This record gives sequence, C-alpha cells and structure tokens, in this order.
Amino acid sequence: MMFLIKNLNLFLDKRLKIHFLIYFICLFVASFLETIGISIIPIIISLHLKEGFFYEKLPDYIINYFASLNLNDFLIISFFIIIGTFLIKNIVIFFIHRFSLLINKTLTAKTTAEVIKKLFKKDFLLFKESTIGKKIRDVTVEADHSTRSILNLLSICQDVIFLTLIVILLISTSSTISILIIGGLMIISALIFISYSALLRKLSIALVKSREILFNKIFEISNLIREIKILKKDNFFIEKYHFEHKKLLQRNYKKLLILSIPKHIIEICAVFFILLIIFNNVFLNELSFREMIPQLTLVIISALKAIPVINTLLLKISHAKGLNVSFEIVAKYLRNKVKFSRKNKSKYSKKISSLKLKNFSFNYKDKTIFKGQNISLKAGDFIGIFGPSGEGKSTLLDILIGALKIDKGLILFNGKKVDDISQLNLNIAFVSQNPKLINSSLKENIAFGEDEEKINKFKIKNLIKMVGLDDFVRNKKRGINYFVGDGGNLLSGGQVQRIAIARALYTNPDILIFDEPTSALDRTNERLIFNLINKIFKENKKMIVIYVSHQFSLIRKSNKKFLVKDKKIKSIK
Ligand SMILES: Nc1ncnc2c1ncn2[C@@H]1O[C@H](COP(=O)(O)OP(=O)(O)OP(=O)(O)O)[C@@H](O)[C@H]1O
Ligand SMILES: [Mg+2]
Repeated sequence: MMFLIKNLNLFLDKRLKIHFLIYFICLFVASFLETIGISIIPIIISLHLKEGFFYEKLPDYIINYFASLNLNDFLIISFFIIIGTFLIKNIVIFFIHRFSLLINKTLTAKTTAEVIKKLFKKDFLLFKESTIGKKIRDVTVEADHSTRSILNLLSICQDVIFLTLIVILLISTSSTISILIIGGLMIISALIFISYSALLRKLSIALVKSREILFNKIFEISNLIREIKILKKDNFFIEKYHFEHKKLLQRNYKKLLILSIPKHIIEICAVFFILLIIFNNVFLNELSFREMIPQLTLVIISALKAIPVINTLLLKISHAKGLNVSFEIVAKYLRNKVKFSRKNKSKYSKKISSLKLKNFSFNYKDKTIFKGQNISLKAGDFIGIFGPSGEGKSTLLDILIGALKIDKGLILFNGKKVDDISQLNLNIAFVSQNPKLINSSLKENIAFGEDEEKINKFKIKNLIKMVGLDDFVRNKKRGINYFVGDGGNLLSGGQVQRIAIARALYTNPDILIFDEPTSALDRTNERLIFNLINKIFKENKKMIVIYVSHQFSLIRKSNKKFLVKDKKIKSIK
C-alpha cells in the first residue's frame, strides 16, 4: 500500500490530481450521507416513542414541533423526511459514482497509452529480450489492473470513512461495551487479513506469470501452425495450453476461495456482537425492550449496512495485494525515462554524405561480436557484406541503423563526431531476413504506417510493377486492397519478400539495406530481385545500398565488400 501511495505521482498528471482531490472530498460527503441515511429511521422512531437515546439528544424545538403534530401529520412529515433524505443521498451518490467512472476511464486510457509508448520507445535490445506474452499482458491486463489498484485504494478510503462514521455513531449512542465490540470486530478483521496477506501476494505473482505464459502459448501456436500441423503436434500444443490454463484457474480458485473466508467469519462475529449488545442492555443496564427499540434499530440498520462494507473492505484490501503486483509492473514502465531526441534530430537533419565508425566494439550481454573494428559508408556506395552464419552481419546492420549502440568507438557523420546514430535523422529502409507483414491490405503494407487517405496509389502501383507483383495483383478482385492475412500468411514467401522490397522503396530512402533478401526465393527469382536492386541503385546515384549475403557471388558487383568473421570486419577487394 505504501508503495502505491509513494508512486501515485507516476500515474497522475495535474488535472487527474485535482480530480482525485475532488473525488476524495466527495467520498466524505457520500459517507456522511450514508450515515444520515442510517440514523434517520431510528430518529423518527425515537420521536414517535418519545424516548430513547436520540430523543434525549435532539434539540428542544424539534421535539416540540413533532410533539405538536397529530399522528396523521406525524406520519406524512416522517414519510417526506425519510423519502427526501434517501432521494438526496442516492442522487448525490449516483453522481459521485459517475465521477469515479469518468476518472477510471481517463486514468486507464492515459496509463495504457503511456505503457505502450514506453514499451515501443524502449531500447531495441530490451524490447527484443522480453517475451511477446509479457508485452501483451502488460499493455492489456496489467495496465488495467494498475489503475484499478488506485481506484481500489480510493474505494478502501471510502469504506474506512464510512465505517469510522458508523463507529462514531454507535459509540455515541451505545454503552462502552459497543466500543469493545467494534474494536473486537476490527481486530478480528486485521488478524484475518494479516494471516493470509503473504499467501495472497505469492498467488498474485504466480497469476501474473501464468497470464504471460498463456499469451505466449497462443502466440506460439498461431506462429507455428504449419509446423504443428505437419508434425501432427496439435494435441501436444493443445494439452500444453490446457495444462497452463488449468494452472491459472487453480491459482485463481485458491485466491477466490481464500478471499471468501473472511466474509463468513465477520458475519458470524457481527451477529454474535449484536446479541451481546442486546443482552448487555437488557440484563446489565436493565433497559426495557421498548426503550431499546430506537437504539436497536440503529444497531441493526448499521450492522446491515456495515457488514457488507466490512466484507467488501476486506475483499478490497486483499484484492489490493494482487492489484499491487500489477501496479509495480506498470510503475516500472512509467518510471523508465525514454529519451525524446527531437532537439538533436534537427541538429543532424542534413542528408547523409558519409558515415564512419572507427575503432568500435560491440558486445551482447554474454558475447563479444566486434572488437576495435572500422567501417565507412558514403553516398553512392553499393556495399556487400558477407560471411558465415552467426558471425554478426545482422548485428552490424543494427549498429549502422542505430538500433544497437556501440560500446566503444567513434562515430563520424558527414565528418562530424556524433554520439548516437539513432539521433541522426537518417532516411533508412530495411528488408530483413524474414520480413513481417501487418494483417492488412497490400497497399497498407507497402505504404507502411501511413494514413489511408495519404497513400500515394500511383506510386504503389508503380512499385508493384517494379517488384514483379503486377500479374498477381491483376488477378485479385480487390487489387491493391487484397488482404494479406495474419503476418502475410495468405502469400508465398517470395511474394512477402517482394512486398517488403516495395515497402522499403516507398519512402525513397537514402540508405537501403537488404539482409539476405532472397533467402526465401528460388534461383531465378533470386537473380530477378538482385537485378532489380542493381537497377534501383543505378537510378539513384546518391543512394547507399547495403546488401548482406552468405554468398560471395551475390555481392560480387558491389563496389565495397566486407567479410564479417571472427569479431572482425575485413575489407575485401
Ligand atoms: N539479442 C541478442 N542477445 C545475445 N546474443 C545475440 C542477440 N542477437 C544475436 N545474438 C548472437 O550474436 C551472434 C551474431 O548474430 P547475427 O544475427 O548478427 O549473425 P549473422 O551473421 O547475421 O547470422 P546469419 O547469417 O545466420 O543471419 C549470434 O551468435 C547470435 O546468437
Ligand atoms: Mg543475419
């Protein structure tokens, strides 16, 4: 709970803070109205009976006024007072509730947006390291739960305020024994909570993990469906999913079961304590039953109102244990400062004429990839990179586009020293080893990340022709609006590759990078694509083309060749 209060700042902007403050004041008003709602009937009964606690405490002018009324008038006025009180109470509470729902909506939208932003702006390596299941889980369930934990805290405050007012009311109307009774109930509640608090936290952490595993399993199945079908492993994956799901349900079942126990204990204790009050008053204070009616009505109405509140309060405090785990996860995202380098971008907004990396080193956590190496590119270069698998070709590309940061070395952009390639406003396009498509139309895959109305359809059609997909598109009823399926699974590997190349060319890049772009193609298509790349290069004199391949034959035509092997980048003639 303390962690939540300390980190609340991360979630609330100035406007939300003001809304929370107003809401907090509203909670007092709501609790006060609830307490009035509880006492109004006992007060009226007391006025009618002309005895009891309230009768003694009420001001004379009220007592005199009611005493002057005949029974009919008394009933009519009482009717309007009771109805009026409950009407006002319910209207005000409805609006306070509406306000809380609005705060919830704004807070959840803001938190989720912030988590997505922090996730996407995260360091490239860190992004790759966390699982897809964790990402989906954090953006959806955890972001939602984290805001619920804040509202849960407010709701706890509301219950505590309400119960405190009831306690004050009961203490001021009953004998000292009720103080002991209320104290007893509170101690019992606290003991119940303390006894299972650690277990609840453990279960909540396990549940968060289970959610990640389940999201991952669905992703695995949809990604590997072909392999699963071919190897006839459907049952294996279904069983695995089922197994993990059962684990999650078991944890949830345990949690819900534990959460339901206090309710019963509290109810039994409350009934026991109410009976104690009656016996105490009848036997010890020797009050008549008639004298006790107003007070008893108050105690029973209070109990009827307070027991569910105590129950839900305990439930909310217990839920807070689980929700706090989500809150901690999301707070970590929000605390993570991401650099927004807009200022630096304008400083380097010039077109690239050269980029040099001198004496640079790069290590993954547990592996050195490059040590004291050099590489330079200049406008108009056609660079070929080749070398055995796993030696660092793709890593080198990620360094050149600024996705990975070098550990040591000097970066010179157009002859000037810069700290970080990612801060340069480079116009780069990249065709990767296994290009991915979005679940959308051909058109939207080529004009990647552009609003539909801004898409240059003429350019799209030209590019489709250029990469040799025009026959394919002509045969489709929807043409460039043809849907490519989940990740492009309604297309062949070669077609996906061609769309990826068209996508790369759509932005008129200054640097065009190909990482094994023909790995999914046959010999003829490989040649076709390679000739196409040569053609693009010849038509764009200032463009830098970088082509990575295992095969030397494919990079033979490039004007600079590099061999990546044994942590070195060797220039080859
Ligand atoms: N995020 C990562 N964390 C740790 N090690 C990594 C990471 N990414 C790649 N590696 C390792 O770095 C080495 C170089 O990988 P890289 O992908 O650059 O090789 P490559 O030359 O492109 O191979 P291929 O020709 O098979 O594509 C590999 O041994 C790989 O296991
Ligand atoms: Mg590679």
